Amino acid sequence: MESIKQEGYKDLIDYNSLPEHIAVIMDGNGRWAKKQGKPRVFGHKNGVKAVREATEACAEIGVKYLTLYAFSTENWSRPSFEVTALMELLVLTIGREVKTLQKNNIRLNAIGNLNSLPAKTRAELLKAIELTKNNTRMTLTLALSYGAREEIFEAFLKMAQDLQNEKISLQDLKPESVKNYLQTHQIPDPELLIRTSGECRVSNFLLWQIAYTEFIFTDKLWPEIEKEDIYSFIYQYQQRERRFGKTSEQINS
Ligand code: IPE
Ligand code: IPE
Ligand code: MG
Repeated sequence: MESIKQEGYKDLIDYNSLPEHIAVIMDGNGRWAKKQGKPRVFGHKNGVKAVREATEACAEIGVKYLTLYAFSTENWSRPSFEVTALMELLVLTIGREVKTLQKNNIRLNAIGNLNSLPAKTRAELLKAIELTKNNTRMTLTLALSYGAREEIFEAFLKMAQDLQNEKISLQDLKPESVKNYLQTHQIPDPELLIRTSGECRVSNFLLWQIAYTEFIFTDKLWPEIEKEDIYSFIYQYQQRERRFGKTSEQINS
């Protein structure tokens, strides 16, 4: 019997309606390691491979912004050896990958409370951001020590300061003004948010920016993610009708 060749998702994607910005909650490293009787940190190390897969997949097809949730403000509550290992892994990974980012014309960016990172991690990160700042193919943003409520709170504080210093007036403020005060002010809102590992929650990620984002929750654990998964998520996203409050008839007329 002749086998039917399954077409790859990459070929099914409509390149005229790609999401401009994809955000990812990379979850399940610990469970992936546990399944094979290994320590949690082994899962984080293997998660780096999936970061590479996702970054390359997005850059290759023309996604302009990829934002990866790598460490939340809440993750500081993990056992200190895991936190330390994650911070060291970050230093190693950024150092090792910066050449590839350069070669692939990818700009590195970061959001979160970067001042709370260990000096070495912060220095390596800022070095890579500086080195890649003129790259134009895609912006890869790492959310590190990131919490959306903190981000929004900081935004309100800055807004209050601008009001106090009469840089802005109350009448000028509109709902759209909030964006200018967020750390993501130069990045469009994500059209697509992916979370791995079967957890169906947002865990304090991009709360303001995801007001109309499409969500995809997959049972796959983060270290299992390959390029083909990313293509399949984009394809799934493209099968949805984004109505923004309108009716289906309005969208299709
Ligand atoms: C995601 O994997 C990575 C980080 C949060 C840093 P987890 O470490 O949360 O893995 P699980 O959820 O325990 O499996
Ligand atoms: C969310 O994952 C944060 C990151 C992926 C960096 P967690 O594994 O920390 O989320 P919760 O605590 O289970 O919601
Ligand atoms: Mg988790």
